[in-house]
Amino acid sequence: MAQPKERLADKMELPPATEQPNVYPLSWRSHTRKLQEVWEAALRENWDPERLPWDTLDVDSYSWEERESIAYWWSLLSVFDASAPPVFAEALVKTYEVHEEDPVRKCFFSVTRDEQNHEIMCGLAITKMLGHPDPLTYQPRTELGRRLQKNVHWLYYNGGRYWTGYKQAVPKYDLAVLFSSFLMGEIAAATIFKQMYDNSREAVFKEGFRNIGRDEGRHMAICMAVMERDYPGLDPATKAVVTKQIRAGYLFLSAVLFEPPMEFWDLPADFIANQREAEDIARGAGFGIPTYEAKLQNWKNAMLNLKGVLDRYAIPFPAIPEVGITGEEISDVAMEDIIPVF
Ligand SMILES: [Fe+2]
Ligand SMILES: [Fe+2]
Repeated sequence: MAQPKERLADKMELPPATEQPNVYPLSWRSHTRKLQEVWEAALRENWDPERLPWDTLDVDSYSWEERESIAYWWSLLSVFDASAPPVFAEALVKTYEVHEEDPVRKCFFSVTRDEQNHEIMCGLAITKMLGHPDPLTYQPRTELGRRLQKNVHWLYYNGGRYWTGYKQAVPKYDLAVLFSSFLMGEIAAATIFKQMYDNSREAVFKEGFRNIGRDEGRHMAICMAVMERDYPGLDPATKAVVTKQIRAGYLFLSAVLFEPPMEFWDLPADFIANQREAEDIARGAGFGIPTYEAKLQNWKNAMLNLKGVLDRYAIPFPAIPEVGITGEEISDVAMEDIIPVF
């Protein structure tokens, strides 16, 4: 039988101090007004992917190549958005452990919920387009579909490599560092979903993109507000980690926002050709994936925006030669090092 724990309540007036960090804040401090506003917006703008007008989507009006190509894009997005709920849930726990102010906790809760909506949206789109709920076990109908499924296998493998590293990184880093990586995803995501909304003709996808884009805009506002709060007075060592994380985030998120850099993503030689072929077909079917040029411009603008933010706090920006941005050379980034999400 277990020894009964030593009772303290009989011996002292007040209990000993609780060891920190502890998951249990008993405090509702609220300093950052902007974050409370974003939380209130998140409540107002709540949406349910399952209640979008799915009955207007006639999958039979698409060829199998078109269906597989559109499902491929949603599968690519899922590599980021289906990992986002656990990633933000982990970060949400951290906001409680470090006793963050009440509106920060609320905002992280809202991001976790939003990201799950995005993941649900991916699942609904894939399931409708393929007639099967899982792109990895689906039986491809076309030769292109077979090559795209191979791509998805490799994406899934690569995406799965960062979870262990992420879990180890969360307790190690300040929220300030975590936010720098989150912000890059949010800046670029807000833009790409706006473009997808503008250029897609299928009502249910348009509606999905409108909602997702609005969510990402809020996520960006959350990151900006926390950075404004925390970045003045960041010590040089933390600044260096932020610089490295920006480069890591670029490499990671390029796969969905631009094209995956092969020195970072472990992918077969025909990967990009297959993906471009699918994107052409999806675009031809009225699914608004930006062109190579538009993605390049979008990604470059997102980086310049972010550079503008970091410059304000004298945080060195990494070189991103892929989109023509000079800066500090960062070369030793591995999948295990990254924190970014989408
Ligand atoms: Fe998202
Ligand atoms: Fe997001």
